[in-house]
Amino acid sequence: MRVLLIYYTGTYNTRWLVGRVEERLLAEGNEVTRVEITSRTPPVPTEDYDLVGFAYPIYGFNAPLPFESYVKKLSFRPGQRFFIFKNSGETMAMNNASSRNLLRRMRRAQGVFMGEYHLVMPYNIHFRFEDDFVREILAYDRKLLEVMLTNLKNGTVERIESRPLYDLGAFFVGIQKIGGNVNSFFYRVDADKCTLCGKCVHECPHENIYKKDGTIRFSHHCDMCMRCSFFCPQDAIRIGFLEGWHVNGAYDLDALDAMGPPSRPYITKDSRGFYRCFIKYFAEIDRKYEALQREKAHR
Ligand SMILES: Cc1cc2nc3c(=O)[nH]c(=O)nc-3n(C[C@H](O)[C@H](O)[C@H](O)COP(=O)(O)O)c2cc1C
Ligand code: SF4
Ligand code: SF4
Repeated sequence: MRVLLIYYTGTYNTRWLVGRVEERLLAEGNEVTRVEITSRTPPVPTEDYDLVGFAYPIYGFNAPLPFESYVKKLSFRPGQRFFIFKNSGETMAMNNASSRNLLRRMRRAQGVFMGEYHLVMPYNIHFRFEDDFVREILAYDRKLLEVMLTNLKNGTVERIESRPLYDLGAFFVGIQKIGGNVNSFFYRVDADKCTLCGKCVHECPHENIYKKDGTIRFSHHCDMCMRCSFFCPQDAIRIGFLEGWHVNGAYDLDALDAMGPPSRPYITKDSRGFYRCFIKYFAEIDRKYEALQREKAHR
């Protein structure tokens, strides 16, 4: 099978998940092409692929605008099979609405829907997840990806149902519609900390950062991806009205994944507040994964 994986990533969580999917598809003898969307990515011809996978991080209950704009530019042949694997920092039901524009686009193109999956990844904004929590999340991601790839092989289709109320809510919350353009007027670089290393300039997916007169400056077509502030080695970038939710410093996903889940579950039946939604989410993945194992044992 020839598989095309099209994705947008800010702080590389989505890129990491795409890497895991690619590994598995290649190991099973498929041909895989990856396309990472930046402002410089030309439209990719899709017609020759047997399957197209779309991956994105959820931003304010929506798919990132650069992702949606890029997909709009693509042409698909009628009958093109596609699937979606999105990710975000929590599992609030309003996140269910995030693929509505992509699904509409693919319905118009007469694509054949092969399933949608919602994975959790550590927050790159709001607050930093503890390493043990990330280890548990990655272990569950592994299980859900296994379910997804088996379903794709068997033709089993999983849907994520949204509701008109979630769709409406997500439409209004669409943070980047004004956020990126307006907020970057308020981005600041702490001159005492910045070493002018140029990392933010080179890595911005939308060429929104430049050096001028020995300082770092921002233009006003920001994707709100947080890559610049998240990876700045000096933690020198202040992100305007989102500064209270600023997170700096990469998660070592490969190392945390290799360690496996923590010896004592991070999420338990007593988890409360923000963590409560993970009880049901993890239980649902366990249910699907165990059903898959039973089915394999019967064959
Ligand atoms: C501007 C912005 C908005 C976000 N909004 C949400 C959200 O609505 N729900 C959520 O669960 N996570 C949200 N997140 C967290 C990301 O979806 C999550 O950390 C994701 O794994 C980042 O993927 P990436 O590293 O590929 O960009 C948001 C992150 C950013 C930067
Ligand atoms: S990444 Fe940080 S330290 Fe490097 S140039 Fe940008 S703001 Fe300065
Ligand atoms: S300016 Fe920063 S947040 Fe905005 S697109 Fe560039 S890297 Fe992402």
